[in-house]
Amino acid sequence: MTASAYVFDAYGTLLDVHAAVRKHSDALGPAGAKMSQVWRQKQLEYSWVRSLMGSYADFWRLTEDALDYALEASDLGADSQLRQVLLDAYWTLDAYPEVPSVLEKLRNNGARIAILSNGSPEMLSAAIDSGGLRDMIDDVFSVDAIKQYKTAPEVYRMVTNSWDMPADEISFQSSNRWDVAGAQKFGFQTVWINRTEQPDEYKNYQPDRVIPTLNEL
Ligand code: LAC
Repeated sequence: MTASAYVFDAYGTLLDVHAAVRKHSDALGPAGAKMSQVWRQKQLEYSWVRSLMGSYADFWRLTEDALDYALEASDLGADSQLRQVLLDAYWTLDAYPEVPSVLEKLRNNGARIAILSNGSPEMLSAAIDSGGLRDMIDDVFSVDAIKQYKTAPEVYRMVTNSWDMPADEISFQSSNRWDVAGAQKFGFQTVWINRTEQPDEYKNYQPDRVIPTLNEL
């Protein structure tokens, strides 16, 4: 099946979530890479746990809470200056290197392009600018509009409702295997961008394609 509309997850798919720590690796030392993994994992865990509890807080707040945990767990907790520097870097993340050219090519072929993300509108807007993606995206859908996190079907439905398009005409790209599962169950065509050679999971919800970077899209 082909698609004329492409929806991208933001964090981890278009935006490199580990760029913030990498930029400050000198200050963080050898504990940095692990801390960055914990930061990301806790940020996601908080989205799922808060969803189950019915206690929504926006994704920036979860990002801050997760960083606090990750710094403390890595014995880097007391440095409030470092905390702020890392949050500033997360606000203005880099896009993965291939992203601008891939989005540009899709757009030149007439495709419609959107982001669908857990991110708050403000953090998404800042990262779209810092990643140099502003001119390549038609729509940005933030879960903040409905105060529910992925993988609630209502999140994916924001796109089909807004575009008045059937789900199976839309290709959804994510590096997060759990997000691909949610999108596949919803009915999107799905592409898993398996950037770091992770093993497969959620096997009842297989992606239509698995590719290592967005270049292969
Ligand atoms: C997002 C999270 C999953 O951008 O990274 O929606």
